[in-house]
This record gives sequence, structure tokens and C-alpha cells, in this order.
Amino acid sequence: MFKNIFELKNGKLSENPLKIAIQSMRKNKFLALMSLLLLIFQISAYNLVPVFNKYFFDALEILNFTNIYKFLFLYILILVFSQVFKYAYFIISSRLYAYMQTQIRKDVLSYLNLHSLNYFDSRPSGKVTNEYHNLYDCNKILFTTLENVIPSLVVLLVSIFLAFFVNVYVGIGILVWNISTIFVSTKFIKLISKRTQELEIVSNYFMGVLGDFISNVKLLKIFNVSQITFNRLTKIASNYCFVALRKWRLKSIFGIFLDFCDVILILVFAVVLGKMYFANLITLGDLTMLFTLAYRIDDSLKELINSVEGIVSDYQISAMAAQNILVEIDNLDKENAKHMPVLDSLAISIKNLNFRYPKSKSKSKDLSSINLEIKSGEKIGIVGRSGSGKSTLLKLLQRQFEFDDGQIFFNDLDVNNYTKQSIRNNMAVVDQDNQMFNRSLKENILLGRKVSDQILNKVLKDSHCNEFIKNLPDGLDTLVGERGVKLSGGQRQRVAIARSMISKVPLVLLDEATSALDSKSEKVISDAFEKLSKDHTMICIAHRLSTLHFVDRIVVMDKGRVVNVGTHDWLLENCKIYKSLAKNQLQ
Ligand SMILES: Nc1ncnc2c1ncn2[C@@H]1O[C@H](COP(=O)(O)OP(=O)(O)OP(=O)(O)O)[C@@H](O)[C@H]1O
Ligand SMILES: [Mg+2]
Repeated sequence: MFKNIFELKNGKLSENPLKIAIQSMRKNKFLALMSLLLLIFQISAYNLVPVFNKYFFDALEILNFTNIYKFLFLYILILVFSQVFKYAYFIISSRLYAYMQTQIRKDVLSYLNLHSLNYFDSRPSGKVTNEYHNLYDCNKILFTTLENVIPSLVVLLVSIFLAFFVNVYVGIGILVWNISTIFVSTKFIKLISKRTQELEIVSNYFMGVLGDFISNVKLLKIFNVSQITFNRLTKIASNYCFVALRKWRLKSIFGIFLDFCDVILILVFAVVLGKMYFANLITLGDLTMLFTLAYRIDDSLKELINSVEGIVSDYQISAMAAQNILVEIDNLDKENAKHMPVLDSLAISIKNLNFRYPKSKSKSKDLSSINLEIKSGEKIGIVGRSGSGKSTLLKLLQRQFEFDDGQIFFNDLDVNNYTKQSIRNNMAVVDQDNQMFNRSLKENILLGRKVSDQILNKVLKDSHCNEFIKNLPDGLDTLVGERGVKLSGGQRQRVAIARSMISKVPLVLLDEATSALDSKSEKVISDAFEKLSKDHTMICIAHRLSTLHFVDRIVVMDKGRVVNVGTHDWLLENCKIYKSLAKNQLQ
């Protein structure tokens, strides 16, 4: 089902960021191949320079002008070509980088979208956003390897080989020097990577609290407690600063160590090569070539070590993000789940349903032994004390959570055998928290669906949105602000109702859908629903019993169980809980 850059195995992906980056590179084979070829040309041209240096200076020493001009010409040619390759590589590889990053962004986003609501409920959104950013950046690892590690490694190996070619003893000396430097550097890299991990944990935590702070800023201001969260953020920021300083201090010591190695190598070379030249052990050409090589070895070794350090850090950051984002999907459709068509009419049969929220510590189940038969086109009300499990039952009908045991049938179709998305295509939901995008009112109602102006106008009229839209500055195009803050509670509720009226579905689920409306508006909206749901099955949760005047039967819930089902009059006579709910509302 998930066939993007990564194959899903048992609901789980590879958490190795390098593998993810390689997969996305495979999707762009042609550009990757071109980049690699140009990189090879560029490295080859660069590696030829010291050889030409040697022959040029040897020709200079014996004043052979034919060779001098020949080598000078070749030298210029190589320099020109290496620049051309460099430019071509830059153009092609930047395109490859952008395509790969877009691919990973898209695919990680599709994967995130597969996660259940429980996944998002259990994680701060700021943290998820930060981790998403860190994960799609994983192609940096591959590019640093290609652009820095491989070229510097090739230059290093070729330079060592050339040094051996000129003088074996000098070659051995350089090899020993390099191995010792790399050995000490790995110790530094290990320590730095530990600091990177610590820093990333603090950074993710900070982003989580920051996201929470921003999305709840209204609450914090109203209760005048923003200072408390602000102080908490400042404390985490100070902690971040402390951990970051520890990492940077270590990095500076590492930098000083590498520079020190640089200077020592050049000094040793100057003394040893000078002595060898004056003892006639090497020619002027050898001396020049070995000096060029010494500088190259210095530069490439430093580049190699710094790049490896960068890769280890980037890998760690992406791997931590992958471990959190690419976790097993806990509410995945069955392997052979079928597509449920949009049904003409829908009867619901709930058989012995049991459910407990993941990680719930309560002794009893959140829903236990629910049995309910709802006929097609029937209007059902659900009432019960707060926390009795009403919304949970609707969440299970929407397949937001897997239930522990029992069965739900839509007509005679067992919902367990169908994809969640196709099941949701059969229902419209208006729940307690009417989520809004920071977009226009029209976009919030349509949610990307396309309908004719005629239908839209009818829905706006039936949901009574027209009444407030006419007073908005840009009418339907008015931006509603983050989470719809520019609308009143009742207006948000009407927008949510309009949303549910847009598409023709056989089942309408209402969870306190009219609780924020005054009783007159509530009556009008209930009538609209009544019209809307003529052929629809409807389940309506309400605290105000008056809202349920149009329903056929009422289900009374308590402590996760269905205690009674019946008409208003029957329940008033026979159900204690219903009687007390009704009594409390009259008082
Ligand atoms: N996402 C969740 N994770 C864990 N427990 C939850 C979750 N949502 C609800 N619960 C718990 O499940 C129980 C039933 O909650 P539910 O929201 O179904 O009640 P309700 O009858 O709709 O109440 P209300 O009338 O106040 O909306 C409560 O004890 C609640 O704490
Ligand atoms: Mg509820």
C-alpha cells in the first residue's frame, strides 16, 4: 500500500536515513549518474595537477623549452576543463538535490498521514514538525559523502600513492602520519556525536514546548500565565545554550588539533625535503611535487575528517527523527482490506464491542459489551454523563482506533475488512472541536471538494452560514485565522455543519454539534439536519435533551456501557439515569 521511496515492511520502514537518501537517489537515476560522472572528471583533472608540476619543473631545471611549453599548455587545459566540469556538476547536482529533497518531503508526509490520530495526540506538534524537517534533510548525508568525502579521499589516496612513487620513505612517513591523525580524530568525532545527540533531544523538546506555547497563546494570556511557559521556554533555551556550548567547545578543540597537525606536517616536510634535495636524493621536480602533495594531503585530510564529523552529526539527527516518525503505524488497514463504496443507505450493527484507549490505566474498559442495532435512515440520539463514552463510540464508528474485540457492520459489511478511508467516505462528522485551517471560509467549507455554486449556496443557506457571511469583510473569501479564531464559537459550528452537508453520505455523526448555538439557531439547524438526513442514518450526541426532539430512539450510556435504549417517553418512565439527566435540565 505504501510504495514510495521506502517499502513498508510489516507496517514499518527502514529507519536508516542513508538508505532513505539512496532510495530517493534511485528515483532520479539519470541525474545521479550524470553528477557522478562529472564528479569523477573533476576529481581526475584535479589529481593530474601535481604530476604536471613535476614534469614542468624537471623540464625547467634542464631548460627544455619544448617540454616547458607543452606542459604549460596541458596545465592550462586541465585547469580549464576542471572548471567546466565543476560548473556542470554544480548545475546538475543542485537539481538532483532539489528533486531528492522534494521526493523525501512528499513521501515522509504521506507516511505521517498514515499515522493514527493517537500518534498525533501523543506528540507535541512542534516536535513532529522539527523531526519532519530533520528527516527530509537526510539527503545531505549522501551529498556530503559525494561532494566532500569521496573527492578528498581520492585526493588523499592518489597523493599518498604519488608520494610513494617519488620516494618510498617519504610515502611511508606520510601514511603513518595520516593513520595516526585519523585515529585521534575518530575519538573526537565520537565525543562530538554524543553532544549532537544531547543537543537534538533538547532542540526537539524546545520545539514541542514552543509549538504548545504558540497554539495556546490565547489561553495563556487570558489566565495571565504566559510568563510561566515563557520562563519554561527560557530555561530550556538556556539548557540548549549550555549543551550547544559544550559541543562547540569540543569542535573548536578538534579544529585546533587539525590545524596543529597541518603546521607540523608542512614544517617536517620543509626540513626533510630540503635536506634530501641538497643531498641530491630528489630532483627539483620531485621537491615541488612532494610539496604540492603535502599541501594537498593536509587539505584533503582536514576536509575528509571534517566532512565525516558533519555526516555523523547529520546522520544522528536524521536517525533520531526517523526513529520517531517512521514508527510502526498502529492503525493500519488490513493487508487485503477492500474499498467500501459509498452506500445508498446504511444500517449499523454493533456486536459485543469492547475498547480501551492505548496505554489507558483505568481498571474498566472505556467501552464494554456495546450491542446496538440502528436501522437504515433511523435517527438515534446518545445521552449520558460526561466521560460515559459517547464520543468514543463515534470515534470507533469512524475507525479512528482499533477496537479490542467485537464487530461493527455497515449493512452486512464487516468494517474490519474495509479501508478506513473508504469507510469515512460514507459519513459526515461534526464533533466537539471544530478544527479550522488558516485559510478562507470557502476553503474551510469545501476542504478541497468541488461542488456547483448551486449546491454551495443551498448548503450555506441550510447551515445558516449566510447570516454571518454577509457581514464578513470579504464574504466567503474572508480568512478565518489560525484555528478559526476570527469566528465565534457558534459560527465555527455552523461552518462545520456546512462541511458535513456538502457531500451526500448515508451516515451523519453529530457530537454536540449545536452546543454553541442559541436555542433559536439550534432549532433551525436541527430542522436543517432533519431535512438533510431524510434518507440518512443519523447519530446525534447531545447534552441538551431538547436538541433530540427529532430522533426516533435515544441510547443512554454510562461508564462505557449502553444502559438503555428507547423513546424519550419510555426512558423517562423506565431509565433512572435518563430521568435524572432530564430532571437536572429542568432545574
Ligand atoms: N484520546 C484518548 N486517550 C485516552 N483516553 C481517552 C481519550 N479520549 C477520551 N478518553 C477517556 O475515555 C473516556 C470516555 O471519554 P469520551 O470522550 O468518550 O466521553 P464523553 O461521553 O464523550 O464525554 P463528554 O460528554 O464530556 O464529551 C473518558 O474517561 C476519557 O478520559
Ligand atoms: Mg464527548
